[in-house]
Amino acid sequence: IEAGSFLVAIDGPSGSGKSTTAKLLARRQGLGYLDTGAMYRAATAEVLRSLPESATDEDIVALVEGAEFTLSTDPDAPRFAINGIDVTSEIREPRIAAAVSRVATILAVRRSLTQRMREVISDHQRRIVVEGRDITTVVAPDADVRVLLVADPQARVARRAAEVAGKATAAEVTDQVLRRDRDDSTVSNFTDAAEGVTVIDSTFLSPDEVVDEIISLAEAAR
Ligand code: DC
Repeated sequence: IEAGSFLVAIDGPSGSGKSTTAKLLARRQGLGYLDTGAMYRAATAEVLRSLPESATDEDIVALVEGAEFTLSTDPDAPRFAINGIDVTSEIREPRIAAAVSRVATILAVRRSLTQRMREVISDHQRRIVVEGRDITTVVAPDADVRVLLVADPQARVARRAAEVAGKATAAEVTDQVLRRDRDDSTVSNFTDAAEGVTVIDSTFLSPDEVVDEIISLAEAAR
């Protein structure tokens, strides 16, 4: 571990508690926070805004490679802008989730975003919590702590349902979570932990308990 480095990589499926845990950890330890899913969502928002539906992979890659990302890594106020447009709320719209795998499955898009993520990590002198699907394996396999956060599907559906309270039926939420699992599994294998990655099952843990566990892993690694 480099002096001062406190790079935490957290992967997991949607609803595993990744974002809650990562933000809380960043807050408790005074670290930056990077939601890499938001970067894929921001790229998708820009693709939907600027390209016709008939856009090819090449069109999408050119747009993403040329795009200017601006982001805040404050865990209390994460913000994302792409090409000068703030997309912080837009990226939470269901139409973005529905289109994101079209963008995230293009290899050259992943390469471009991975490079930007690594720039954010080094801008923060490796004092940052990074969450996503391929952080422990591709973006930062050299992180000080690498965690795969999992939870039973019922628990993940219940958390998602609480988040969207009233805006979707139970059946719709179940459907969304399971469909996202399926779409995401084509992007990267995040259900099996790579070597050196600690699996934490959050089904019966509070966010604070998960954070405690990650902090003790970080201490053990020092
Ligand atoms: O975590 P999220 O739901 O905001 O992620 C949005 C999408 O981005 C998700 O469908 C998969 C993709 N993603 C990815 O491919 N790689 C990452 N490191 C993070 C997210």
